Amino acid sequence: MMLRVLSVASEAVPLVKTGGLADVAGALPAALAPHGIEMTTLLPGYPAVMKAVKRGRVLHSYDQLLGQKARLVAGKLGAQPLIVLDAPGLFARDGGLYGDANGHDWPDNWRRFAALGRAAADLAGGLVPARAFDLLHAHDWQAGLAPAYLRFAPLPGSRAVPTVMTIHNMAFQGYFSRETFKELGLPKAAWSLTGVEYHGGVGFLKAGMEAASVITTVSPTYAQEIRSPEYGMGLEGLIVSRGDRVKGIVNGIDPAEWNPATDAHIPAPYSTATIARRKANKRALEAEFGLEPGDGPLFIVVSRLTWQKGMDVLVEVLDHLVGLGGRLALLGSGDAGIIAGLAAGAARHPGRIGLKFGYDEALSHRLQAGGDAILVPSRFEPCGLTQLYGLAYGCVPVVARTGGLADTVIDANLAALSAGVATGIQFSGVTYPALADAITRAVALWHQPEQWGSLQRAGMKQDFSWATSGRRYAALYRELTGTP
Ligand code: ADP
Ligand code: GLC
Repeated sequence: MMLRVLSVASEAVPLVKTGGLADVAGALPAALAPHGIEMTTLLPGYPAVMKAVKRGRVLHSYDQLLGQKARLVAGKLGAQPLIVLDAPGLFARDGGLYGDANGHDWPDNWRRFAALGRAAADLAGGLVPARAFDLLHAHDWQAGLAPAYLRFAPLPGSRAVPTVMTIHNMAFQGYFSRETFKELGLPKAAWSLTGVEYHGGVGFLKAGMEAASVITTVSPTYAQEIRSPEYGMGLEGLIVSRGDRVKGIVNGIDPAEWNPATDAHIPAPYSTATIARRKANKRALEAEFGLEPGDGPLFIVVSRLTWQKGMDVLVEVLDHLVGLGGRLALLGSGDAGIIAGLAAGAARHPGRIGLKFGYDEALSHRLQAGGDAILVPSRFEPCGLTQLYGLAYGCVPVVARTGGLADTVIDANLAALSAGVATGIQFSGVTYPALADAITRAVALWHQPEQWGSLQRAGMKQDFSWATSGRRYAALYRELTGTP
């Protein structure tokens, strides 16, 4: 039987993206279609999203949604159905999705994403009869109130559909002051330990985790890690209490976007059989980053420049990397302190370290296609996508052993190397000595072309397409809705 799922997220490719959530929310619908699941995505009507539904049909008009005029407009996300929450008072602004151009959060984020949650709950409950849904799937704190509205304040006559809450990053919880509660339109009963109340304020993610039928996160290891205070960030008790209602399903990658044989962004497309063509991509990348063509390996980084991503430790290790004959090409945006540290390193090593600050999708492809190894020294990483792109592109991942990085990269220890199954290098603990040692290992392996080639080929052979994970989400939806 065909199942209709409403997926609610605050970003999705190809329309709006600040990170991996957009990749996942954008790819999931197509991955589910072969399993008899029609996934409709609900997105906020930011300017870039409104452009895509200019002539869209209006499905519903609200006089008042969290105090704002709003409409639900139909459109398409790729080939899949899309519904946009058009609320100009909340979303029609220049700047970022979550904050202004200076990086300050919008002060009314609680209202913006409460409106998204309210609209999602209404749709899932049957607000638009022509668009009925069997299940609601909420992503991250921005969608966290959707399951809570369905549970505590459904529309009159609303259908009670099962709900899935997916945590892409426990570090972002959507915590707001107590004062916001009275404006959410939730009954008093919701102000409770099992409702939206969290440390005296309102917790959007916490509310979603309490109300959802099932919680998922984006890798099995992260699903275990968030049971401890170090990773659970205050919500570990809730995770433990939900027991086997917490599942880890690793993300896939979208083969239409990330395939070195068909990638339109890269100068010289290649496959495992024509891997020697990577050299042309490497030369182009060196030129683009102003690097001397050299003998040593070319490391790359594509990342948010933050503490989570271990970018402060990367700054410390630059001299060591260059001392070993390595070079680095980095693309990222984020913390000013980290940017200053990287820039100082590049000034010490002209021609060896090249930096581009900002967001550039096409360049992120060229980096994966031309780099020898990608560094991902994250302190925690719910799934991580850049190491998966690295695997698919023969850009060997050097990763911290945490979360999805631990689940997707096979360390080149002696046993794995001799069995030919190793795909990268893992290290434990995001410290200078651990990262420096991992880089030393990578450089040594790179100087043994047979071993390095074996790492590349084993990585490229791995199947991280959505096929497996799509099947797992489909099975979960069927279990929750009781449909065969
Ligand atoms: P997170 O979502 O925590 O930032 P992921 O590894 O899951 O980490 O996803 C990051 C996504 O954003 C990847 O698709 C990566 O290629 C992309 N990305 C990160 N920084 C940049 C950048 N500066 N320019 C282009 N793409 C970037
Ligand atoms: C978050 C996580 C990242 C994950 C992405 C998509 O941004 O930080 O690890 O890959 O969501 O699930």
